[in-house]
Amino acid sequence: MAVKIAPSILSADFSDLKNEVKKLEESGADLVHIDVMDGNFVENITIGAPVIKALRKHTNLFFDVHLMILNPERHIEKFVKSGADNITVHAETTYHLDALINKIKSFGKKASVAINPATPVCLIENVLGMVDMVLVMTVNPGYGGQKFIDYTLEKIRNLSELRERKGYRFEIEVDGGINEQTVVECVKAGASVIIAGSYVFDSVDVKEAIKKLKKSVEK
Ligand code: DX5
Ligand code: ZN
Repeated sequence: MAVKIAPSILSADFSDLKNEVKKLEESGADLVHIDVMDGNFVENITIGAPVIKALRKHTNLFFDVHLMILNPERHIEKFVKSGADNITVHAETTYHLDALINKIKSFGKKASVAINPATPVCLIENVLGMVDMVLVMTVNPGYGGQKFIDYTLEKIRNLSELRERKGYRFEIEVDGGINEQTVVECVKAGASVIIAGSYVFDSVDVKEAIKKLKKSVEK
C-alpha cells in the first residue's frame, strides 16, 4: 500500500487556516487531518463544523475529520454537510459503534474508527470489515507534540495480521508523535496513512518535511 501523509492542522496557525491548508495542497500532502475536540472526551477544545465548512471552499484536498467528542451520533450530519470526506469516530465514545459507522456510510462518506493507546484491538474486531480506516492513536489524544507510545506498534501489527487473515480492506492510520524515526516503525508494522502535526508545522519548510517523511519510508 502506498504511504500517504496527512498533516494535522492542529499544529497550524489557527489565525491563518485558509493559507495553511493551501500551503499543504502545494506541498504534496495527500490528506488534511482535522482534529475536532470537545473539552469532554479530551481536555482540549478546537474547532467544529463551521470552520471545516469555511475551509472547504479553499481546497480540494481530502478532509480527514477526527472526532474526539462525546455523543458523536448527534453531530454526524453537521460534519457531513461541512464537507468532510472521511469521518473517524472513537470506539470509546459510543455504545453503538456498528450503528454509528453505518450512519456515516449512509451519507456516502468514508467511515473510520479510532482507538486510544490503552484500548485493545479486540474491541473493534467486529467492525473491521465495515470501516475504511482504523486510526491507532500512538499518543493519548488531546494535544500535539507528545511522545510516541511504543506499545501501540504491537496493535498495528495485530491489525495488519487480522486484515491479511480475514481479507479486510481497511487502511491503518497512525496519529501522534510521528517523526522521521517513528514513521519507519509504523509503516513496518502495517500503517499506510501517516498523520503528522508538529513534525510538519514546526519545521521551517512544510514541503520539505512532507518529502522527508515520505523518503524515510521509501523502499
Ligand atoms: C492528537 C491529535 C493529533 C495531533 C498529532 O490528539 O489527534 O492529530 O495533531 O500531533 P503530533 O503529530 O504533533 O503528535
Ligand atoms: Zn488526530
